[in-house]
Amino acid sequence: MKYTLAFDVYGTLINTSGIYDSLKSMIGAHAKPFMDDWRNKQLEYSFRRGLMDKYTDFSICTKDSLEYCCQMYGIDLNKKQKEALMDEYTILPAFPDVKAALKNLKESGHRLFAFSNGSEKAVRKLLTTARIVDLFDGIVSVENVQSFKPNPLVYAHFNKETSSTKTNSWLISSNPFDVIGAVSFGMYSAWIRRTKDSIFDPWGIEPTLIINELTELSLRLETKD
Ligand code: LAC
Repeated sequence: MKYTLAFDVYGTLINTSGIYDSLKSMIGAHAKPFMDDWRNKQLEYSFRRGLMDKYTDFSICTKDSLEYCCQMYGIDLNKKQKEALMDEYTILPAFPDVKAALKNLKESGHRLFAFSNGSEKAVRKLLTTARIVDLFDGIVSVENVQSFKPNPLVYAHFNKETSSTKTNSWLISSNPFDVIGAVSFGMYSAWIRRTKDSIFDPWGIEPTLIINELTELSLRLETKD
């Protein structure tokens, strides 16, 4: 069967750890925990804004969480350094398996969409910089819903925008909260385990598929049919 595939962007196609080297040069040994806390706080801010019905551009969640982490770690980054980090966040690299996997999926006849908390403009810039934008049939952002994943309204928006249905679409994500959101909504979902130590939330809501590399997906979709 040919499916409509919704690819999560940050952490799934695009490596948010691409910011590590710059952070290391600015703050040294704290770079890794700082980077992880920054990402977690960014997501927390999106969840909270979604619940409060106070949507803002995802880049504001990124900026505010950077500020929070500077205070948390007692690190006094200057304005220029913060701007440099925020700029770099708009051109983060793709994971190495992404291009080949997308090409293969496209050639197999599936429809490919980027589906993100990020704005259409921000996602387009990331995918263009990573030279993968042409492999997609389109970009679907939560911005038209004015909420964030895992609000079921944003998954419904994806189906509407792409003229797909719950039963012919897949969400592909490294983020367990996103996979759980999609499965709970009623879509199929593949969890890509980007790191060995990633833990799937033990809620009893399981991914349809678990993969370690994006290049596994094409075959796994075929054998699932
Ligand atoms: C996204 C975040 C959740 O791209 O990774 O939507």
